[in-house]
Amino acid sequence: MTASKNIFIKTFGCQMNVYDSERMAQSLAPHGYRETTAVEEADIIVLNTCHIREKAVEKVYSDLGRLRAIKGARSRAGKDTIITVAGCVAQAEGAEIVRRAPIVDLIVGPQSYHRLPELIARRGSEGPLIATQFPEEDKFRHLPQRAPAKRASAFLSVQEGCDKFCTFCVVPYTRGAEFSRPVAAVEAEARLLAASGVRELTLLGQNVNAYHGQGEDGRPTSLAQLIARLAEISGIERLRYTTSHPLDMTPELMAAHRQQPKLMPYLHLPLQSGCDRVLTAMKRRHTLATYLALIDRLRKERADLAFSTDLIVGFPGETDRDFAATLAAVERVGFAQAYCFKFSPRPGTPAATLPGQVPEVGKAERLKRLQGLLQSQQTAFNSSWVGRTLPVLFEREGRHRGQLWGRTPYLQAVHAAAASSALGRIVEVEIEGLSANSLAGRVR
Ligand code: SAH
Ligand code: SF4
Ligand code: F3S
Repeated sequence: MTASKNIFIKTFGCQMNVYDSERMAQSLAPHGYRETTAVEEADIIVLNTCHIREKAVEKVYSDLGRLRAIKGARSRAGKDTIITVAGCVAQAEGAEIVRRAPIVDLIVGPQSYHRLPELIARRGSEGPLIATQFPEEDKFRHLPQRAPAKRASAFLSVQEGCDKFCTFCVVPYTRGAEFSRPVAAVEAEARLLAASGVRELTLLGQNVNAYHGQGEDGRPTSLAQLIARLAEISGIERLRYTTSHPLDMTPELMAAHRQQPKLMPYLHLPLQSGCDRVLTAMKRRHTLATYLALIDRLRKERADLAFSTDLIVGFPGETDRDFAATLAAVERVGFAQAYCFKFSPRPGTPAATLPGQVPEVGKAERLKRLQGLLQSQQTAFNSSWVGRTLPVLFEREGRHRGQLWGRTPYLQAVHAAAASSALGRIVEVEIEGLSANSLAGRVR
């Protein structure tokens, strides 16, 4: 082991990047690197980036601008700093990043980050190193074992990549083809996490319900079967999965919401648009009617299931009437939570060059209206719990002394006065009110 060095990681984008950042830090720990929150003290700075919308990418370049000064100051003090761009911008832009930001030393894509220790060791006078191939090998097999968890809730990537090629989306290009981890590997990681105090697992994948990992009998295993398997692990009390595509929402998986008590009654199911013509142009390969049929069926399986979704406004060709169809669809479903975005034309995707691009003002106006509706639905959902009691898994200290922070089965954030001995436990909490970003509760 070499002398202790510091690594600073900033994570952009989705939960899969959160998982990857944790694994990057763990892969460097045996080489003497400790995580720091002070960027000026870092020997390696990693930006784990997102390419999904233009704004996400611009944030990375403005951060790189700021890092130039830090690297310069450290260099004058005789200290080396390795600036690494990881994640989906690394994959999509590769060498272009170094042209725009020459301070970058390493560029490593989402399927190559297990090579970080080797790349860091190799880095020398030869200039920036770029690792953006989609290796044949499974990166998970090359990563060290998952380290003990710091919190009672953990992410576990079970599936990566996407073969759907929705016309607006970069993910199939940045993450590569759909790939499922074998059941045994997922289960081993889940057992390690459970043994270190994890009570809740969120299974991650860009298209997680398309999961078809190899079982021990050599046959493909469905997500529903994987969930049943993980539910048997002692200590694991709650299971979630995200993100699902409506096309892969099988009857078996929907039934799991009734059959499997550990599966939490909350489902993120992106709709994108309530207009069939737009859905077709997006190549989502489902209609509003088939989406609504899934919602109805899921509610039959489990009446209290709460839904969240993703929506895009201002897709090329979207008219006021098309947008009104999205508003109507949202009214019809009633979401507990949702994310909506202005369409962002991404280089290389088919939608970027479609005719009928919606002007920025139009997008902004639609976004505001949709956000208003979604916010009122979220508030209505949360208000409906005031005065009732919910089981909360306390994950960390709250902002104020003597307070803990946790989540309900419906993924609502809750603050409550509680002793730190309740950390990592599921406790009945009476919901007393709403604050900006969370519910306020009282331990019963
Ligand atoms: N795999 C998930 C979504 C991954 S990206 C799925 O299939 O639904 C997360 C969300 O970002 C998408 O659901 C979509 O709403 C949004 N998004 C993706 N590309 C976008 C773009 N070019 N402009 C605006 N929003 C986009
Ligand atoms: Fe992107 Fe999701 Fe469509 Fe795949 S299914 S292309 S990740 S939006
Ligand atoms: Fe962004 Fe890549 Fe996730 S583009 S949303 S970080 S898969």
